[in-house]
Amino acid sequence: MFASRTNWRLDQNRFAQALDAHRRAGKELLDLTISNPTECGVSYPEAEILEALSDPRALAYVPESRGLREARESVAGYYDGRMGFAGPGQSVDPERIVLTSGTSEGYSHIFRLLCDVGDEVLVPAPSYPLFEFLADLADIQLVPYPLFYDDGWGIDFASLREALTSRSRAVLVVHPNNPTGSFIKPREAAVLTEICAEHEMAIVADEVFLDYADEFQNADLARTFALHDAALTFTLSGLSKISLLPQMKLAWMVVSGPQELVQTAVARLEIIADTYLSPSTPVQLALPKFLALRNDLQAQLQQRISANLAILDAMLRESKLLARLDREGGWYAILRVPATGPDESLAVELLERSSVLVHPGSFFNFSRDGFLVLSLITPEEQFQEGVRRLGKFFEG
Ligand SMILES: Cc1ncc(COP(=O)(O)O)c(C=O)c1O
Repeated sequence: MFASRTNWRLDQNRFAQALDAHRRAGKELLDLTISNPTECGVSYPEAEILEALSDPRALAYVPESRGLREARESVAGYYDGRMGFAGPGQSVDPERIVLTSGTSEGYSHIFRLLCDVGDEVLVPAPSYPLFEFLADLADIQLVPYPLFYDDGWGIDFASLREALTSRSRAVLVVHPNNPTGSFIKPREAAVLTEICAEHEMAIVADEVFLDYADEFQNADLARTFALHDAALTFTLSGLSKISLLPQMKLAWMVVSGPQELVQTAVARLEIIADTYLSPSTPVQLALPKFLALRNDLQAQLQQRISANLAILDAMLRESKLLARLDREGGWYAILRVPATGPDESLAVELLERSSVLVHPGSFFNFSRDGFLVLSLITPEEQFQEGVRRLGKFFEG
């Protein structure tokens, strides 16, 4: 009765089972995987947020396939004055912006736009695991290309080239990547562009964490793909991380590249978007305000991230067995731990013995065991106690 594309394993994995059992038993839980900004003690300007949602124009339905012009203009404003890979670029044209209800929907539209059934999209490994479901739903194949770690992360271009086939349609980059926290470097962007132009492939750049560069000097790493014009490029971002408002369900994509390809892509995307018309009017009308709130909200989270990194590093200085991989930004830290067995088993043991929840590296498609992923947006007190127990778990 059901399509094979939805023939997923519906039973819980061991990690989810252990977490369920832990919660049902009412045991204490130090959750170091928190990724929902609305649950981590950020102080939101509540009155301003609610007021932005009460624009009387929301009482009328004026459908616009790419999204309301005013909302798209505020997204274009988000890119004003930013550096592209080739230096300061022109501003982003609101005509090339399409609003969606989330970056996941943006991915779906792009996969539908570029790929026939069975076509391939190259994705980084390790990276964010949601892509697999999006690919299943679009009837496409994901082909991983490895990132290597050697004093920082980089793209293994030799393996990426080897992974190309006649069915490759796009290369996906997450900039900075989740969970490695690594930005794409200008030299890497240039090679990617060359490969994509040569093989008639598009670049899909997920920039949801773009504004979270670790230190001041790293701001230079946060160059945007939205100003890229040598290969057809789709740059995705949204309110979830940029304004810490995932519940508002608003994201966008910017299409850039050679003029003719951009025109065709936008015209076709407009029809896909028009078929759904998903973003709600009140949220679109509130978008300029929500974007205007981002600096204060991001500053709160950056402070949390720095404080938690300091806590983690203090524990690591005392540890003989654990180390942290270098990162440049994003919300996560990767811990290198003794690979005594599968990461998932280790995470379950840590939960059962120490009531500390972390994600195993295997969830993010690491090439080998020995990695745990910690969310740095966890409230500090919880993070401190969790990290203390984590250290004890290994050292003890
Ligand atoms: C790399 C990456 N892209 C996209 C998303 C999802 O964003 P949205 O809420 O806009 O669908 C996430 C969420 O964690 C993410 O980590």
